[in-house]
Amino acid sequence: MPETAQLLAAIADTGRDPVRGGYSRPVFAGAERELLEWYLAELGRRGLEGETDRNGVVWAWWNPAGAPLRDAVVTGSHLDSVPGGGAFDGPLGVASALRALDLLRERGIEPARPLGLAVFPEEEGSRFGVACLGSRLLTGAIAPERALALTDSDGTSFADAARGAGLDPAGFGRDDEALARIGCFVELHVEQGRGLVDLDAPVAVASSVIGHGRWRFTVHGQGNHAGTTLLADRHDPLLVAALLVAAAREVAAAHPGTRATVGRLNPVPGGTNVIASRVDLWLDVRHPEDAVTAAVVAELSRRAGELAAAEGCTVDVREESLSPTVDFDPALSRRLSAVLPGAPLLPTGAGHDAGVLAERVPTAMLFTRNPTGVSHSPEEFCTDDDAERGSVALADVLTDLVT
Ligand code: GLV
Ligand code: MN
Ligand code: MN
Repeated sequence: MPETAQLLAAIADTGRDPVRGGYSRPVFAGAERELLEWYLAELGRRGLEGETDRNGVVWAWWNPAGAPLRDAVVTGSHLDSVPGGGAFDGPLGVASALRALDLLRERGIEPARPLGLAVFPEEEGSRFGVACLGSRLLTGAIAPERALALTDSDGTSFADAARGAGLDPAGFGRDDEALARIGCFVELHVEQGRGLVDLDAPVAVASSVIGHGRWRFTVHGQGNHAGTTLLADRHDPLLVAALLVAAAREVAAAHPGTRATVGRLNPVPGGTNVIASRVDLWLDVRHPEDAVTAAVVAELSRRAGELAAAEGCTVDVREESLSPTVDFDPALSRRLSAVLPGAPLLPTGAGHDAGVLAERVPTAMLFTRNPTGVSHSPEEFCTDDDAERGSVALADVLTDLVT
């Protein structure tokens, strides 16, 4: 079995979700922490030491020339997953980073610049609602007070979960010193769509991450009895939410290129024979033009108000996160393309820490082919050979950048 696949095989049973299928590896909890232990051990086997910074980002440095920790070439990804996610979203980038380091050493490369490996916490925002929370804290894209107050579905705050993971909540926030070490960041990620399958190529260079955001709609109604409440007397927030889900598809379809998704909806209290008193619904909207995203959300907020009023309910809308469209650093991306002449240039609709870091440091990405084209699902896939091809491509790019 090729080496990248061997690395992934070692964690193939960690965080499997017997109920949803796939993997559930929420940040700062069992499976994600076990993956981190595995990662730290892999670093140790390579003579490197992982150090966790004050935002929970884990860094490791290969710096045989003893150069100052400045202008480093950094690669890495994340180890947390969405609920019921695939095996590759995050871990492929981490395993490929380790494998690429091995390849550089096997090639006898003597890096003139430090090579850094990084693992970011809560990339998915699956536990605390805001994606790329580690990189947002690092760059100052989110205020630490706001991050610390975020809660998971059990009511545990980010501050408490971070404390449980050995971090000091007082230390969270923009870290210019940590950023100053990065000369450029290159993240490898499994492709999350069909681009490479359709082009029959194993590896792509990323061009951009399309803008995306999350909004929470809370519909307030009247909790009541399913049997004794006549239809005319109901104020059912779940009916409003259902109509809003359909409206999201309709409004998105009217704005070509929009992706609008409701993947999470929580009726309270959630009993079969109970009309809900409240429903929380999370809307994810993405479009290459940020103005279109804003227009879609404005239209859906207006419709939510109308739908709620018609049912005698009320609705609040809160933006939980918003990331504009990011074009990766043109010079760095051109350099990647020159090293990998056969690799197509592809945009992505998925969010990444590389997109957040792009605000502060030159950033680029590589995608490795996913034969199913499916992601955030147990169907996400990468063949052993393609995983290795991705690592070799990353090693080629890093070789070019560090020498
Ligand atoms: C993360 O993968 C996202 O695109 O939401
Ligand atoms: Mn990811
Ligand atoms: Mn993901």
